[in-house]
Amino acid sequence: MKTRLFILAGFLIAVSSCNRPAPMDGIIRESMNFSMEQYTLMYNVMKGIPGRLPRTIDAAGSLVTAEPDWWTSGFFPGTLWYLYEYSGDVKFREYAEEMTARIEKEKDNRGTHDLGFMLYCSFGNGLRLTGNEAYKDILLTGAKSLITRYRPNIGCIQSWNSRRGWQCPVIIDNMMNLEFLMWAFRVSGDSTYYRICVNHSDTTMKNHFRPDYSSWHVVSYDTISGRVEKKQTAQGYSDASAWSRGQCWGLYGYVVMYRETGLQKYLDQATGIAEFLINHPRMPEDGIPYWDFDDPAIPDTERDASAGAIMASALIELSGMTAEPASSRYLNMAELQLRSLASPRYRAGKGENGNFILMHSTGSLPDDSEVNVPLTYADYYFIEALLRYRALKD
Ligand code: GLY
Repeated sequence: MKTRLFILAGFLIAVSSCNRPAPMDGIIRESMNFSMEQYTLMYNVMKGIPGRLPRTIDAAGSLVTAEPDWWTSGFFPGTLWYLYEYSGDVKFREYAEEMTARIEKEKDNRGTHDLGFMLYCSFGNGLRLTGNEAYKDILLTGAKSLITRYRPNIGCIQSWNSRRGWQCPVIIDNMMNLEFLMWAFRVSGDSTYYRICVNHSDTTMKNHFRPDYSSWHVVSYDTISGRVEKKQTAQGYSDASAWSRGQCWGLYGYVVMYRETGLQKYLDQATGIAEFLINHPRMPEDGIPYWDFDDPAIPDTERDASAGAIMASALIELSGMTAEPASSRYLNMAELQLRSLASPRYRAGKGENGNFILMHSTGSLPDDSEVNVPLTYADYYFIEALLRYRALKD
């Protein structure tokens, strides 16, 4: 009888330890080690392609690179900075410095709103980790360039130049530039930056969001009256749909605005978006969104790993700003997303996938552009989220 009980107890312990998920610290360590190897391979390729930055791969699996004025240019250098932060290995600092320098001229670029992505992910992380004063000057010049796109009668920074019948298009993604401008406010003491960030956030809250906290991708304004002229999409399934990455940009942007201002309205907005996403009936079980929540082809359509990575990173920060039970709900979702992204379903093999870290992102499905491919920003926010999760548990 006793022997039987021992066997049963042993069996139950074995079963319960089989079901227990692997500890996150092991997953993070393994993913960071893999990413350091993978991005060393990527660096070795990129050093032979002067002046350009990695972007994605083509249908044949070959690397596609971009000019520094492409909106994603800052993510590869930014990820190298994160790898330096994690490892302390001076090799990654040197790689990051070299790739960051390729983007410097964009500080004078007044033709795009994407300077936050381009400059703050690269030079911003570089400044944070090295204190290099030259980076600060470059960033302040870039911030000045970016606010030339602010339209006072609208209360927003213009995203794209006028096109497709849009007089002054503002996209939800633009919330991601505000971290850069709030940094400029803190460093320069110029309250213009603060006012622009708060006005842009408030105007976006008023016009970009539906009552369920989903958002339109593009809101275009009349340049004379400052009123909304159109609410549409460019990269989503339809004007009325919830394009996944856009929802995640919005979430991340309002988390940042709450962190930077302490204004409750931004925390409320961020939690509203988080709840919309987490409770969405078409959020897949692994936490990695389909490219658009309203694609009628779901489940037979593409995922967007970049949306999962951006959302995970934002949720980890949000979990530290909120009380229970919401706080754990956000962290648990982020953990699920990181476990999925770190699994072979999304994470590439060494030397595969054009040396990018993650597979299965979607750039713009309606344009048949970058569908089910690696993208530098998926990698960037994945690594950022891993570091944020690790810091929480330290
Ligand atoms: N900012 C463009 C995108 O998210 O595709």
